[in-house]
Amino acid sequence: MTSICIRRFCHHSSGIKNVTIFGGGLMGSGIAQVAAQSGFNVLLVDQQKEILDKSHKRILQSVEKMAKKQDKVEPKEFVESVISRISTKQFNTANDSSFDMKHETDLVIEAIVENMEAKHKLFEILDAESPENTIFATNTSSLPVGEIFQHVKRSDKVGGLHYFNPVPMMKLLEVVKADTTSDDTFHKLCSFGSEMNKTVVKCKDTAGFIVNRLLVPYLAEAVLMLERGDAEMKDIDTAMKLGAGYPMGPFELLDYVGLDTTEAILQGWCDKYPDTFKVPETVRKLVAEGKLGRKSGEGFYNYSK
Ligand code: 3HC
Repeated sequence: MTSICIRRFCHHSSGIKNVTIFGGGLMGSGIAQVAAQSGFNVLLVDQQKEILDKSHKRILQSVEKMAKKQDKVEPKEFVESVISRISTKQFNTANDSSFDMKHETDLVIEAIVENMEAKHKLFEILDAESPENTIFATNTSSLPVGEIFQHVKRSDKVGGLHYFNPVPMMKLLEVVKADTTSDDTFHKLCSFGSEMNKTVVKCKDTAGFIVNRLLVPYLAEAVLMLERGDAEMKDIDTAMKLGAGYPMGPFELLDYVGLDTTEAILQGWCDKYPDTFKVPETVRKLVAEGKLGRKSGEGFYNYSK
């Protein structure tokens, strides 16, 4: 089980205390939850109030599940202490040209839409408004970390923090060193990852880092196998669970991660390396139909019942 810091004040050797997370989706809310569980003060920011309300609900449900597994602390006290460390704020780069960094932020983690222009716009605003020492990190899974930060002035204080879904359960964190990331920043990001009770692996700024570079082609190959009619979906899932010991089959995992996310990852790679990668037609079709996986109620499988 994931060990959790439940002290009200934890000493963090990374020097990081206050974390601002942009993007209240699956990943952003998971990161916010685990950061708060580890004693960090968290500000969670999204464009829409509805998304922040949904994030709050998702975090509460997950923390309540975690609380039941705590044996040394009252579940109610645990939930309250975690939730009290998270505040939320609405901010939209389309309407707001400045972001008031009232909450002294040591670290920004960006988990917004996988769109280079949107990320550039966000960091342009934040670079102008953030304290000099604030570190900028991105949770991107499909875009080069260095390119995301190519316009920021603090080019030594940037890096990648790549989390895995579901963030509260998955033990791994990939810490990505971009060409401009200083050793000091990289060290702080690695320490921060350990303080979040994640096992940290270090990687360079290459397509897919470690996990996705191996995992996503495997997922895409499963879809191509289905398209060729080599085997049925359920049988492919059963085969990989029972024959390779994976906790989920490839189609279950595709639906869990979100087909839009997988499409974005593969498309980003196709743009750069068109001869090496391919987005399977079925993934494109399902995304176009709004069938994004579990989060929309249907993907390869139907979750409406
Ligand atoms: N919060 C709190 N607890 C949770 C939870 C959450 N979000 N999700 C699951 N749990 C708990 C459940 O309550 C349950 O607790 P219990 O054992 O006390 O009853 C326990 O975890 C196990 O859950 P389930 O019984 O529902 O199901 P599983 O045993 O199958 O575990 C899983 C769920 C951890 C998601 C497991 O199936 C798994 O590891 N799947 C693979 C996930 C994976 O590969 N993720 C990486 C995707 S790639 C990625 O994210 C990168 C990105 O860039 C795309």
